[in-house]
Amino acid sequence: MPKIKLKMKNKKPAKEDIQKMKKEKAAKVQSKVEQPIKEKKIKAPRSFQTLKGMKDILASENKYWEYVKTKAKNFALNYGYESIETPILEETALFNRAVGNETDIVSKEMFSFVDQGEENVCLRPEATASVVRSYVQHGMLNLPQPVKFFYFGPMFRYDRPQAGRLRMFHQIGLEAIGEESPIIDAEIIFFVYNFLKDLGLKTVIEINSIGCPKCREAYKTKLINYYRDRKSGLCEDCQKRLVKNPLRLLDCKEEGCQAYKEDAPQIVDWLCDECKNHFVGVLEYLDESGVIYNLNPRLVRGLDYYTKTVFEFFPDNADGVEKRQDALGGGGRYDGLVEYLGGRPTPACGVALGLERIILKLKENNIEIPALRKPDIFLAQLGEQARKKSFILIEELRKSGFYVVHSCSKKGLKKQLEMANKDGVKYTLILGQKEVIDGTIIVREMEGGAQEIVDFNKTVQEMKKKIILQ
Ligand code: HAM
Repeated sequence: MPKIKLKMKNKKPAKEDIQKMKKEKAAKVQSKVEQPIKEKKIKAPRSFQTLKGMKDILASENKYWEYVKTKAKNFALNYGYESIETPILEETALFNRAVGNETDIVSKEMFSFVDQGEENVCLRPEATASVVRSYVQHGMLNLPQPVKFFYFGPMFRYDRPQAGRLRMFHQIGLEAIGEESPIIDAEIIFFVYNFLKDLGLKTVIEINSIGCPKCREAYKTKLINYYRDRKSGLCEDCQKRLVKNPLRLLDCKEEGCQAYKEDAPQIVDWLCDECKNHFVGVLEYLDESGVIYNLNPRLVRGLDYYTKTVFEFFPDNADGVEKRQDALGGGGRYDGLVEYLGGRPTPACGVALGLERIILKLKENNIEIPALRKPDIFLAQLGEQARKKSFILIEELRKSGFYVVHSCSKKGLKKQLEMANKDGVKYTLILGQKEVIDGTIIVREMEGGAQEIVDFNKTVQEMKKKIILQ
């Protein structure tokens, strides 16, 4: 039998019992209040930062980037260079072969990894190897020579980040493939000199010739003999370089090793006739064009593919040339690379400039950069109907070439006019409920505040009369 609980109906509790119950309830509430509230542990969402040595390019920087890129592109077109874009990710072996296993770029600084298809790939540390790969891959040796390329894009090197030295940076580059005349070397140097001058940057050009594999062999022996006697004073890397790639000894940035450079044998003394004549040819063209340069017999550059001419551009400050690490650009001739990457023997020459370094210099020197294009028109709207109508009008104005901005939300007219002022527009179009009913729109000239009412359907024509589009 189930137990049945009998409820005592209509039996009122005694007065004392009620008071007791009330006291107990009050005590319970009190104890609850006094108990510490158990806080639920909510995990704060993690925030993220850019990787070390990498930067966001924010809107505030845009005017610099646009200005330098546009100028470079116009210069490149005037000099007959056509744009090329190669992938950022390439086979690692391409750079091992082209730039050289013993260079810092390949041995220490490559962002390389094995992809899902078990391929060894890397983020490109530079673009010359990629452009040459592309030239060979697409049979461009059958085009009229030289083929002249211009590129812009990010490069990646796992270097120690500091001002002007990043792990992801951008280069503007030129490569002229298929011409052996020294005129091309001089033209490339002249291009960079003029381009940087046009930006307002004064530069010092350092130039050298590192010869060809033939004449370099005898020089290398001389260099090894010189450094062998000083081996104990060299850094660990240079001790290895002495055996594996002696030319790189001249490229070492360690202070201890730099000191030995001074008395090291100079490669220009060992150039074969062909390399000597070529170098003299480049210098003559530069002299002819009035470009000032410094002969730097110890300039070898940090990449293995160079032959004959090598050069670097440094900012020219009142207090003299800056440290070597601050080169704004560098390049040279690489007559062996096309063949080395599977093509026919083809001479070539090129240069690359670091965009971040150029922009840094523009800022340091307080060089005025033209502002980016300002919006032409602000469209202010009030009320649901006006908002819908203005949406179509904005598109019509944009189709006609006007740069139009507007407030997406339901802000009042005062706020919208403030926004228009901030945007620096010349005219604000105001579309309220009354105008929607009347089929009109108000055109407000922002500077004096003068307003006129025009036919809504003629807005585009009216604005064309007021704003001359470039
Ligand atoms: P590069 O000297 O290694 O040459 O680089 C060219 C320029 O890129 C440098 O002068 C510098 O302005 C910039 N740069 C290099 N590393 C960094 C970095 N870590 N952070 C910021 N800027 C940097 C080359 O890359 C060759 N491919 C140039 C060339 C083209 N030679 C023949 N054709």
